[in-house]
Amino acid sequence: MSAFVLSVSKQVSVTDLVRLYAQVGWSAYASDPDSLARAVHQSSHVVTARDVAGELVGLARAISDDISICYLQDILVDPGHHREGIGKALVDNILERYVHVRQKVLLTDDESGQRAFYESSGFIEAHDFDSPLRAFVQIGS
Ligand SMILES: CC(C)(COP(=O)(O)OP(=O)(O)OC[C@H]1O[C@@H](n2cnc3c(N)ncnc32)[C@H](O)[C@@H]1OP(=O)(O)O)[C@@H](O)C(=O)NCCC(=O)NCCS
Repeated sequence: MSAFVLSVSKQVSVTDLVRLYAQVGWSAYASDPDSLARAVHQSSHVVTARDVAGELVGLARAISDDISICYLQDILVDPGHHREGIGKALVDNILERYVHVRQKVLLTDDESGQRAFYESSGFIEAHDFDSPLRAFVQIGS
């Protein structure tokens, strides 16, 4: 377990953003730095994790009306720092910020590791909910 510092801040350099998004293989974001920077800046809440040297090692952001819905987007951690509790700390920060908001929602890849990660933070897959839910998406090219 390495030390890291969380900050609620949108002040992240484009270079740091592109490096982190590229590290997790999200090339669509990394190949369009201007859009990435605007997406981060226009998010409702951004939380970053930095190592002791100040290097960006994780980021999560949320889109919310601060009343009824909080959408968690782009939770990512430098692969060199996986399983050190950084991802959970980022999600916990968002859940604490939006504790008063009843619906927290996210979409993620269909991988067992993702399910385990989000379940460890209290999320339930939509189709496993007590009164079953459906999730519908439209994703452009
Ligand atoms: C998903 C991701 C954010 C998890 O971040 P992380 O910092 O490694 O996660 P944590 O160390 O906080 O893990 C918390 C718990 O989640 C579970 N978990 C996390 N990753 C897991 C994996 N690959 N397999 C199984 N369980 C996992 C474990 O229960 C873990 O606790 P433990 O290590 O004490 O067993 C990280 O793997 C990542 O950035 N992946 C690429 C980007 C991505 O796909 N993001 C999610 C979609 S938005």
